[in-house]
Amino acid sequence: MHVHRYERVWMAFGFAILILFMATIFVAAFVDNINPPSGSQTIDPTKVGSTPPFDHPGLHRNADGSYDAYYVAHVFAFAPARLTIPRGSTVTFYVTSSDVVHGFEIAQTDVNFMVIPGWVNSAVHRFTRPGTYLLVCNEYCGIGHQDMYGAIEVK
Ligand code: CUA
Repeated sequence: MHVHRYERVWMAFGFAILILFMATIFVAAFVDNINPPSGSQTIDPTKVGSTPPFDHPGLHRNADGSYDAYYVAHVFAFAPARLTIPRGSTVTFYVTSSDVVHGFEIAQTDVNFMVIPGWVNSAVHRFTRPGTYLLVCNEYCGIGHQDMYGAIEVK
């Protein structure tokens, strides 16, 4: 079968683009380690109040000096409402919801994710600048959504 020269050029071009796109996905996944969230942490949303460590939300210090912060989002507040952490500390936030979908955004940082009942979402941030960071729910969750906020004090 005869394939016109231009047709072959276009087929080669299309194939090259396909290889390029696949290569970018592999580079992102295996070189830059950018992957979709695994969603491996689940929780019974009806038993959040009695499931450790979410039965005592708050800050936990690790042996290496970093911190874990456990948050429960519910209509229309975060527990804990206020958190105080030393400047320069690295904090891993673990957040779940005991009712509906909420948002977890710490203003002026790259921490911003959805909080979905039944799942534990997390993000890591190092707080280098002192000050009070606003924590807001940025998913509409009901009539009191605009009152759902907290604060993280870095000093
Ligand atoms: Cu919670 Cu909006």
